Amino acid sequence: MAQVFDRSSNALARASLVLSGLIVIALGVTLNSLQRSPWVTRQGQRPDQPVPFSHLHHVQGLGLQCQYCHTSVEKSMYAGIPPTKTCMNCHSQIWTDAQLLEPVRQSWATGASIHWIRVHDLPDFVYFNHEIHVSKGIGCASCHGRVDEMPLMYEQNSLQMEWCLNCHRNPAKNLRPTAEIYNMAWQGPSDRRPVWCTTTGVVGPTAQQVACVTTDPAAAGLQLAGLSTPGNSLIQSNPLGLDRSQTLSAVAATVIPANYVKFTSQEELGLYLIKQYHIRTANELSSCETCPR
Ligand code: HEC
Ligand code: HEC
Ligand code: HEC
Ligand code: HEC
Repeated sequence: MAQVFDRSSNALARASLVLSGLIVIALGVTLNSLQRSPWVTRQGQRPDQPVPFSHLHHVQGLGLQCQYCHTSVEKSMYAGIPPTKTCMNCHSQIWTDAQLLEPVRQSWATGASIHWIRVHDLPDFVYFNHEIHVSKGIGCASCHGRVDEMPLMYEQNSLQMEWCLNCHRNPAKNLRPTAEIYNMAWQGPSDRRPVWCTTTGVVGPTAQQVACVTTDPAAAGLQLAGLSTPGNSLIQSNPLGLDRSQTLSAVAATVIPANYVKFTSQEELGLYLIKQYHIRTANELSSCETCPR
């Protein structure tokens, strides 16, 4: 019986197998990178807002705190976008005829809120809560980047599951004292800029039981003691009838809690805070205790 396919088609069949394999791989690679591309994650995009609100001008320029506008960030899932009233606190008096601010005035006059376009928007099935992150020592800038340097808001990180998990697996890199949450320029401790922490014994959420300072607590105590020269009211009143040197050491003792620990690297500080804040591991976090409620 005559062959239906001649001998050369063997090579052709082999080549087409290889080729389709390559096509599948190429497709996979393309879809994978597409899935992470800014086109999908919207990273770096600045949507056209009704008003070109500048965090650079309002935060860095005017020194407004994040909480002035995002009032619920410490106590709820949502940080919240400020109502028009917040803008009008100032803009009823300054820049009152600026064309840029027309939508703000209109919203104020009609009571219809401004339609801000969301820059960060997780899919609905993802459970994300600001309160826990902020109260466990993750700063705004760790997730949102240098907001104080953004003329227009954009998404700094992909917000994809991979990004969430990277931090949950290694939180030490990102943990900071809760007093530094809003500090956009915070950098972890180093030899040149050490950080001292102590437990305060204050009853409250775990994170509030830790107090950290960026100036040497011993030096601060000495400085205060140094200020207590004769003539200073602390010395003059001298209620316990102590002599001067005793008073000075009494002052120093109240000012320097003995148990400050000094940190010169983020890794050390992170490990300490993991313990003090009782940070759970990534596995504990994804167990069903923390499933969306
Ligand atoms: C004067 C009020 C004001 C202050 C202060 C302020 N913001 Fe905002 N913020 C806004 C407004 C209005 C928007 C919505 C418009 C936009 O996205 O630019 C916004 C949007 C955002 C968004 C994006 C919201 C989204 O749609 O996903 C983030 C993140 C944010 N702010 C973080 C911060 C941080 C961090 C600080 C402090 C460093 C801060 N903001 C200070 C008014 C403010
Ligand atoms: C604490 C007072 C204050 C508040 C609150 C405030 N602004 Fe402003 N805003 C200013 C000042 C001052 C300027 C002029 C800043 C400059 O030129 O550096 C300004 C400038 C602007 C401008 C002009 C462009 C620019 O950034 O310079 C826009 C638009 C604007 N604000 C929108 C808003 C919106 C929207 C809100 C509410 C979410 C708001 N502002 C809240 C004080 C405020
Ligand atoms: C652990 C990461 C993380 C930290 C820390 C964080 N955010 Fe967010 N933020 C997000 C994510 C993720 C979203 C998107 C939430 C969504 O789509 O439901 C978001 C959304 C927002 C929004 C949009 C409005 C809203 O409530 O969803 C604002 C405003 C905002 N963040 C401000 C802040 C401020 C101010 C801080 C610091 C006090 C902060 N964020 C700290 C991850 C973070
Ligand atoms: C920069 C670090 C960081 C990033 C990024 C981050 N997280 Fe977290 N997350 C934490 C820390 C720290 C905790 C506190 C863990 C603890 O309490 O033991 C936490 C806790 C949680 C919890 C437990 C909440 C609860 O109520 O017990 C959930 C859920 C969570 N994160 C979801 C997310 C999601 C979703 C994302 C991404 C959109 C994300 N996180 C991004 C650091 C991060």
